[in-house]
Amino acid sequence: MLISLEAKRQLAYQALMQRSLIGKLSLAYLAQSGAKLMQKAKLHAHFFGDGSLYQTSLHLAFFGLSLPYDYQDLEKILLPWQTLKILYIFERRIAKRIPVEYITHQATYLSHDFYINQHVLVPRSIMSTRFQDFLTLCTWKNYRVLDLCTGSGCIGISLALLHPNLIIDLVDISAEALAVANINIQKHGLTHRVKTIQSNLFQNVASKYDLIITNPPYVSTKDYQNTPLEFKNEPQIALEAGKDGLKLIHPILSQAKPYLNPEGLLIAEVGYASAKLIKKHYKNIPLTWFKYRRPNGKESWLGMDGTFLCHAKDL
Ligand SMILES: C[S@@+](CC[C@H](N)C(=O)[O-])C[C@H]1O[C@@H](n2cnc3c(N)ncnc32)[C@H](O)[C@@H]1O
Repeated sequence: MLISLEAKRQLAYQALMQRSLIGKLSLAYLAQSGAKLMQKAKLHAHFFGDGSLYQTSLHLAFFGLSLPYDYQDLEKILLPWQTLKILYIFERRIAKRIPVEYITHQATYLSHDFYINQHVLVPRSIMSTRFQDFLTLCTWKNYRVLDLCTGSGCIGISLALLHPNLIIDLVDISAEALAVANINIQKHGLTHRVKTIQSNLFQNVASKYDLIITNPPYVSTKDYQNTPLEFKNEPQIALEAGKDGLKLIHPILSQAKPYLNPEGLLIAEVGYASAKLIKKHYKNIPLTWFKYRRPNGKESWLGMDGTFLCHAKDL
Protein backbone atom coordinates (compact mmCIF):
# COMPACT_ATOMS: atom_id res chain seq x y z
CA MET A 1 0.00 0.00 0.00
CA LEU A 2 1.32 3.45 -0.92
CA ILE A 3 1.40 5.99 1.91
CA SER A 4 1.18 9.65 1.01
CA LEU A 5 3.89 12.08 2.02
CA GLU A 6 1.41 13.76 4.34
CA ALA A 7 0.49 10.52 6.09
CA LYS A 8 4.21 9.73 6.53
CA ARG A 9 4.71 13.17 8.05
CA GLN A 10 1.86 12.63 10.51
CA LEU A 11 3.47 9.31 11.55
CA ALA A 12 6.78 11.11 12.05
CA TYR A 13 5.05 13.71 14.24
CA GLN A 14 3.47 10.94 16.34
CA ALA A 15 6.87 9.29 16.84
CA LEU A 16 8.38 12.61 17.93
CA MET A 17 5.50 13.17 20.38
CA GLN A 18 6.01 9.73 21.87
CA ARG A 19 9.72 10.42 22.34
CA SER A 20 8.85 13.71 24.00
CA LEU A 21 6.33 12.03 26.35
CA ILE A 22 9.12 9.84 27.79
CA GLY A 23 11.43 12.86 28.19
CA LYS A 24 13.86 11.91 25.42
CA LEU A 25 13.37 14.58 22.80
CA SER A 26 16.03 17.28 22.60
CA LEU A 27 15.78 20.58 20.76
CA ALA A 28 18.60 19.49 18.42
CA TYR A 29 16.86 16.19 17.58
CA LEU A 30 13.56 17.94 16.88
CA ALA A 31 15.27 20.54 14.69
CA GLN A 32 17.07 17.81 12.71
CA SER A 33 13.82 15.87 12.29
CA GLY A 34 12.04 19.05 11.17
CA ALA A 35 14.74 19.72 8.56
CA LYS A 36 14.36 16.16 7.20
CA LEU A 37 10.58 16.56 6.93
CA MET A 38 11.06 19.90 5.14
CA GLN A 39 13.52 18.31 2.74
CA LYS A 40 11.10 15.47 1.93
CA ALA A 41 8.34 18.02 1.29
CA LYS A 42 10.70 19.87 -1.13
CA LEU A 43 10.21 23.31 0.37
CA HIS A 44 11.52 26.35 -1.47
CA ALA A 45 14.09 28.12 0.75
CA HIS A 46 12.54 31.47 -0.21
CA PHE A 47 15.50 33.67 0.77
CA PHE A 48 15.55 32.61 4.42
CA GLY A 49 19.06 32.66 5.91
CA ASP A 50 21.62 30.69 3.91
CA GLY A 51 18.94 28.33 2.59
CA SER A 52 19.74 25.58 5.12
CA LEU A 53 16.64 23.70 6.21
CA TYR A 54 18.25 22.88 9.56
CA GLN A 55 18.64 26.63 10.16
CA THR A 56 15.00 27.14 9.17
CA SER A 57 13.82 24.36 11.46
CA LEU A 58 15.90 25.55 14.43
CA HIS A 59 14.80 29.16 13.92
CA LEU A 60 11.13 28.10 13.98
CA ALA A 61 11.73 25.99 17.09
CA PHE A 62 13.35 28.97 18.86
CA PHE A 63 10.40 31.11 17.82
CA GLY A 64 7.92 28.52 19.16
CA LEU A 65 9.68 28.47 22.51
CA SER A 66 10.19 32.27 22.63
CA LEU A 67 13.93 31.67 22.89
CA PRO A 68 16.56 34.11 21.49
CA TYR A 69 17.62 33.12 17.96
CA ASP A 70 21.22 32.56 19.13
CA TYR A 71 20.20 30.19 21.94
CA GLN A 72 22.97 27.66 22.57
CA ASP A 73 21.63 24.81 24.74
CA LEU A 74 20.50 22.55 21.91
CA GLU A 75 20.50 19.45 24.13
CA LYS A 76 17.65 20.97 26.14
CA ILE A 77 14.91 18.34 26.62
CA LEU A 78 11.50 19.48 25.42
CA LEU A 79 8.29 19.12 27.36
CA PRO A 80 5.40 17.54 25.39
CA TRP A 81 3.49 20.83 25.09
CA GLN A 82 6.62 22.51 23.71
CA THR A 83 7.05 19.73 21.15
CA LEU A 84 3.40 20.00 20.11
CA LYS A 85 3.73 23.75 19.63
CA ILE A 86 6.85 23.41 17.46
CA LEU A 87 5.33 20.63 15.34
CA TYR A 88 2.31 22.84 14.70
CA ILE A 89 4.66 25.59 13.47
CA PHE A 90 6.60 23.14 11.26
CA GLU A 91 3.31 22.01 9.74
CA ARG A 92 2.35 25.60 8.84
CA ARG A 93 5.68 26.03 7.02
CA ILE A 94 5.47 22.60 5.32
CA ALA A 95 1.80 22.08 4.44
CA LYS A 96 0.84 25.69 3.71
CA ARG A 97 4.27 26.77 2.40
CA ILE A 98 4.15 29.89 4.57
CA PRO A 99 7.53 31.70 4.47
CA VAL A 100 9.37 31.75 7.80
CA GLU A 101 9.09 35.53 8.17
CA TYR A 102 5.28 35.46 8.00
CA ILE A 103 5.24 32.89 10.81
CA THR A 104 7.64 34.80 13.08
CA HIS A 105 6.52 38.29 11.91
CA GLN A 106 10.15 39.27 11.77
CA ALA A 107 12.67 39.76 8.98
CA THR A 108 16.23 40.99 8.86
CA TYR A 109 17.31 43.41 6.13
CA LEU A 110 20.76 44.96 6.11
CA SER A 111 21.15 43.69 9.69
CA HIS A 112 18.06 45.60 10.84
CA ASP A 113 14.90 43.99 12.22
CA PHE A 114 11.58 44.61 10.48
CA TYR A 115 8.04 43.68 11.45
CA ILE A 116 6.47 41.70 8.61
CA ASN A 117 3.07 40.27 7.76
CA GLN A 118 1.43 38.79 4.67
CA HIS A 119 0.53 42.21 3.28
CA VAL A 120 4.16 42.94 2.38
CA LEU A 121 6.87 41.24 0.38
CA VAL A 122 9.47 39.48 2.52
CA PRO A 123 12.45 41.92 2.32
CA ARG A 124 15.25 40.66 0.06
CA SER A 125 16.03 43.34 -2.50
CA ILE A 126 19.59 42.90 -3.71
CA MET A 127 19.92 46.68 -3.91
CA SER A 128 20.95 46.75 -0.23
CA THR A 129 24.41 45.52 -1.24
CA ARG A 130 24.84 48.79 -3.15
CA PHE A 131 23.19 51.32 -0.83
CA GLN A 132 26.50 52.91 0.19
CA ASP A 133 27.45 53.30 -3.48
CA PHE A 134 24.04 54.81 -4.33
CA LEU A 135 24.34 57.37 -1.52
CA THR A 136 27.81 58.35 -2.74
CA LEU A 137 26.57 58.75 -6.33
CA CYS A 138 23.81 61.19 -5.32
CA THR A 139 24.19 64.95 -5.64
CA TRP A 140 22.46 66.14 -2.49
CA LYS A 141 20.39 69.31 -2.71
CA ASN A 142 17.48 68.81 -0.32
CA TYR A 143 18.37 65.34 1.01
CA ARG A 144 14.95 64.05 0.09
CA VAL A 145 14.48 60.44 -0.97
CA LEU A 146 11.38 58.70 -2.32
CA ASP A 147 11.10 54.95 -1.77
CA LEU A 148 8.46 54.10 -4.36
CA CYS A 149 6.61 50.77 -3.91
CA THR A 150 7.89 50.56 -0.35
CA GLY A 151 6.09 47.48 1.07
CA SER A 152 7.49 47.00 4.59
CA GLY A 153 9.56 50.18 4.18
CA CYS A 154 12.78 48.16 4.40
CA ILE A 155 14.60 50.10 1.66
CA GLY A 156 13.72 53.66 2.74
CA ILE A 157 14.15 52.91 6.43
CA SER A 158 17.55 51.24 5.89
CA LEU A 159 18.68 54.29 3.89
CA ALA A 160 17.49 56.60 6.68
CA LEU A 161 19.50 54.53 9.16
CA LEU A 162 22.61 54.79 6.95
CA HIS A 163 22.45 58.57 6.46
CA PRO A 164 21.23 60.82 9.31
CA ASN A 165 20.32 63.79 7.07
CA LEU A 166 17.88 62.04 4.76
CA ILE A 167 14.18 62.85 4.77
CA ILE A 168 12.31 59.97 3.22
CA ASP A 169 8.82 59.41 1.83
CA LEU A 170 7.60 55.83 1.56
CA VAL A 171 4.95 55.33 -1.13
CA ASP A 172 2.73 52.31 -1.69
CA ILE A 173 -0.70 51.76 -3.21
CA SER A 174 -1.62 49.29 -0.45
CA ALA A 175 -2.98 50.69 2.83
CA GLU A 176 -2.19 47.35 4.52
CA ALA A 177 1.45 47.55 3.39
CA LEU A 178 1.73 51.13 4.67
CA ALA A 179 0.37 50.04 8.06
CA VAL A 180 3.37 47.68 8.24
CA ALA A 181 5.76 50.42 7.03
CA ASN A 182 4.44 52.73 9.77
CA ILE A 183 5.10 50.09 12.42
CA ASN A 184 8.67 49.87 11.12
CA ILE A 185 9.12 53.66 11.10
CA GLN A 186 8.10 53.72 14.77
CA LYS A 187 10.20 50.67 15.61
CA HIS A 188 13.32 52.44 14.32
CA GLY A 189 12.48 55.80 15.92
CA LEU A 190 12.27 57.60 12.55
CA THR A 191 8.90 59.38 12.73
CA HIS A 192 10.67 62.76 12.46
CA ARG A 193 12.34 61.89 9.11
CA VAL A 194 10.31 59.16 7.43
CA LYS A 195 6.63 59.25 6.48
CA THR A 196 4.24 57.20 4.37
CA ILE A 197 2.06 58.32 1.45
CA GLN A 198 -0.65 56.11 -0.01
CA SER A 199 -0.45 56.60 -3.75
CA ASN A 200 -0.76 54.87 -7.08
CA LEU A 201 2.86 55.54 -8.15
CA PHE A 202 3.28 59.37 -8.26
CA GLN A 203 -0.42 60.27 -8.09
CA ASN A 204 -0.36 61.71 -4.54
CA VAL A 205 3.31 62.72 -4.51
CA ALA A 206 3.98 66.46 -4.33
CA SER A 207 7.73 66.87 -3.58
CA LYS A 208 10.93 66.77 -5.59
CA TYR A 209 13.69 64.38 -4.60
CA ASP A 210 17.43 63.90 -4.98
CA LEU A 211 16.86 60.16 -5.19
CA ILE A 212 13.91 58.02 -6.21
CA ILE A 213 14.60 54.39 -5.38
CA THR A 214 12.18 51.63 -6.25
CA ASN A 215 11.75 47.89 -6.16
CA PRO A 216 8.43 47.63 -8.00
CA PRO A 217 6.63 44.42 -8.96
CA TYR A 218 8.33 43.05 -12.09
CA VAL A 219 7.36 39.38 -12.52
CA SER A 220 5.53 38.51 -15.74
CA THR A 221 2.13 36.86 -15.39
CA LYS A 222 3.47 33.61 -16.82
CA ASP A 223 6.48 33.52 -14.47
CA TYR A 224 4.20 34.40 -11.56
CA GLN A 225 1.93 31.45 -12.35
CA ASN A 226 4.94 29.14 -12.28
CA THR A 227 6.43 30.37 -9.00
CA PRO A 228 6.62 28.00 -6.02
CA LEU A 229 3.80 28.19 -3.46
CA GLU A 230 5.92 30.23 -1.04
CA PHE A 231 5.65 33.18 -3.48
CA LYS A 232 1.89 32.71 -3.75
CA ASN A 233 1.71 33.45 -0.02
CA GLU A 234 3.14 36.91 -0.75
CA PRO A 235 0.80 39.66 -2.05
CA GLN A 236 0.27 39.18 -5.78
CA ILE A 237 0.29 42.96 -6.20
CA ALA A 238 3.87 42.99 -4.88
CA LEU A 239 5.15 40.60 -7.53
CA GLU A 240 3.05 40.34 -10.66
CA ALA A 241 3.36 43.08 -13.27
CA GLY A 242 1.50 42.09 -16.41
CA LYS A 243 2.31 40.10 -19.51
CA ASP A 244 5.96 41.17 -19.77
CA GLY A 245 6.62 42.30 -16.18
CA LEU A 246 6.98 45.95 -17.25
CA LYS A 247 3.53 47.21 -16.24
CA LEU A 248 4.97 49.44 -13.51
CA ILE A 249 8.38 50.14 -15.03
CA HIS A 250 6.94 51.99 -18.05
CA PRO A 251 5.00 54.61 -16.03
CA ILE A 252 7.85 54.95 -13.53
CA LEU A 253 10.28 55.84 -16.33
CA SER A 254 7.84 58.14 -18.10
CA GLN A 255 6.53 59.95 -14.99
CA ALA A 256 9.56 60.26 -12.65
CA LYS A 257 11.25 63.38 -14.09
CA PRO A 258 9.04 66.12 -12.52
CA TYR A 259 9.58 64.52 -9.11
CA LEU A 260 13.36 64.66 -9.33
CA ASN A 261 15.69 67.61 -8.70
CA PRO A 262 17.67 68.54 -11.87
CA GLU A 263 20.65 66.44 -10.77
CA GLY A 264 18.47 63.75 -9.21
CA LEU A 265 18.75 60.00 -9.75
CA LEU A 266 16.25 57.23 -10.34
CA ILE A 267 17.40 53.79 -9.25
CA ALA A 268 15.19 50.77 -9.93
CA GLU A 269 15.45 47.05 -9.35
CA VAL A 270 13.76 45.30 -12.26
CA GLY A 271 15.08 41.72 -12.19
CA TYR A 272 17.05 39.90 -14.85
CA ALA A 273 14.17 39.03 -17.19
CA SER A 274 12.78 42.58 -17.27
CA ALA A 275 16.29 44.04 -17.60
CA LYS A 276 16.69 42.35 -20.99
CA LEU A 277 13.41 43.85 -22.24
CA ILE A 278 14.20 47.31 -20.83
CA LYS A 279 17.59 47.37 -22.56
CA LYS A 280 15.83 46.69 -25.88
CA HIS A 281 12.93 49.05 -25.23
CA TYR A 282 14.79 52.11 -23.87
CA LYS A 283 17.82 52.35 -26.15
CA ASN A 284 17.38 56.15 -26.14
CA ILE A 285 17.82 56.51 -22.34
CA PRO A 286 21.35 56.01 -20.96
CA LEU A 287 20.90 53.51 -18.14
CA THR A 288 23.75 52.39 -15.89
CA TRP A 289 23.39 48.76 -14.83
CA PHE A 290 24.83 47.52 -11.56
CA LYS A 291 26.64 44.34 -10.81
CA TYR A 292 25.74 42.44 -7.71
CA ARG A 293 28.12 42.91 -4.82
CA ARG A 294 28.27 39.71 -2.80
CA PRO A 295 28.11 40.01 0.98
CA ASN A 296 31.88 39.35 1.14
CA GLY A 297 32.42 42.53 -0.91
CA LYS A 298 33.46 40.90 -4.20
CA GLU A 299 31.56 41.67 -7.37
CA SER A 300 29.81 38.83 -9.12
CA TRP A 301 30.34 38.64 -12.85
CA LEU A 302 27.14 36.70 -13.32
CA GLY A 303 24.54 38.55 -11.39
CA MET A 304 22.80 41.79 -10.92
CA ASP A 305 22.39 43.55 -13.99
CA GLY A 306 18.81 43.71 -12.80
CA THR A 307 19.17 47.17 -11.23
CA PHE A 308 19.66 50.38 -13.19
CA LEU A 309 20.41 54.02 -12.46
CA CYS A 310 19.19 56.87 -14.59
CA HIS A 311 19.86 60.64 -14.38
CA ALA A 312 16.85 63.00 -14.23
CA LYS A 313 18.22 64.99 -17.20
CA ASP A 314 18.08 61.84 -19.39
CA LEU A 315 14.47 60.98 -18.66
C1 LIG B 1 8.28 44.11 -4.97
S1 LIG B 1 7.32 44.82 -3.66
C2 LIG B 1 8.63 45.75 -2.91
C3 LIG B 1 8.47 46.01 -1.46
C4 LIG B 1 9.72 46.60 -0.80
N1 LIG B 1 10.17 47.80 -1.44
C5 LIG B 1 10.83 45.58 -0.76
O1 LIG B 1 11.82 45.74 -1.49
O2 LIG B 1 10.72 44.60 0.00
C6 LIG B 1 6.39 46.01 -4.55
C7 LIG B 1 5.44 46.90 -3.77
O3 LIG B 1 4.83 47.77 -4.72
C8 LIG B 1 3.50 48.03 -4.32
N2 LIG B 1 2.75 48.48 -5.51
C9 LIG B 1 2.21 47.74 -6.50
N3 LIG B 1 1.61 48.54 -7.41
C10 LIG B 1 1.80 49.81 -7.00
C11 LIG B 1 1.41 51.08 -7.52
N4 LIG B 1 0.71 51.19 -8.65
N5 LIG B 1 1.75 52.19 -6.83
C12 LIG B 1 2.44 52.10 -5.67
N6 LIG B 1 2.83 50.92 -5.12
C13 LIG B 1 2.52 49.79 -5.78
C14 LIG B 1 3.03 46.72 -3.72
O4 LIG B 1 1.95 46.92 -2.85
C15 LIG B 1 4.31 46.23 -3.03
O5 LIG B 1 4.32 46.62 -1.68
